[in-house]
Amino acid sequence: MHWIVCPDEKSQAKACASIIAAQVLQKPSSVLGFATGSSPLKTYAELIEMSRQGAVSFSRVRTFNLDEYAGLPRDHPQSYSRFMWDNLFSGMNMREDQARIPNGMAADLDAECRDYEQAIEDAGGIDLQLLGIGHDGHIAFNEPGPDFSKFTHVERLNARTVEANKRFFDSADDVPRTALSMGVGSIMRARRILLAASGKDKAEIVKEAFLGPVTPSLTASILQFHGDCTIILDREAASALTYN
Ligand code: F6R
Repeated sequence: MHWIVCPDEKSQAKACASIIAAQVLQKPSSVLGFATGSSPLKTYAELIEMSRQGAVSFSRVRTFNLDEYAGLPRDHPQSYSRFMWDNLFSGMNMREDQARIPNGMAADLDAECRDYEQAIEDAGGIDLQLLGIGHDGHIAFNEPGPDFSKFTHVERLNARTVEANKRFFDSADDVPRTALSMGVGSIMRARRILLAASGKDKAEIVKEAFLGPVTPSLTASILQFHGDCTIILDREAASALTYN
């Protein structure tokens, strides 16, 4: 694993955006995997700025998002589709046909998951996948459990994730209890992985996930087995790491 520790969140976002931009400059038709949540927000603002300045063009990329709530229409203010268009895609002038996000309103959610997995494969696989990490160590919506999920699937969210995500909704009751999520297997097939975490509240889970044993009860720990995974932290998220 590669580690990058930045002095603060701003420099972390700049570093993260530079790695993504470098990928696209090297291969303009890159397939990018994106995440939602607080962790990538500043990175997305940096990417929009780079694109506006003409430093990099996203006109040929294709993107796949990690997950989407089941039962929320695409234009729902809390859908991940809306999040991506509001916080990244519109700012980079992306076309609708470039970005794929699981459809949480599909009549047959299992069929949607199968189609999604196939679409990633048809696109040639993901070149660079951006990830955040949940407080219980989840990546995408792969919650701790007895084994690692292989493919895109319907996942039941656990109480801690519902609690963490209620900040975006009027109340915890409004947070959907299920989501469509890429599997751990789907994520591990990405050629490169970039996991971003910032803030003191992520320090312990970062240490456990990446310096502790690999176990499905801490999903992100599997990334220790990925051949090209970079963990990019601000100083606070790195504060529990010991190097001896
Ligand atoms: C979002 C996702 C989640 C988040 C994780 C951390 O698409 O896949 O795994 O990355 O819940 O969320 P934040 O960044 O809000 O702390």
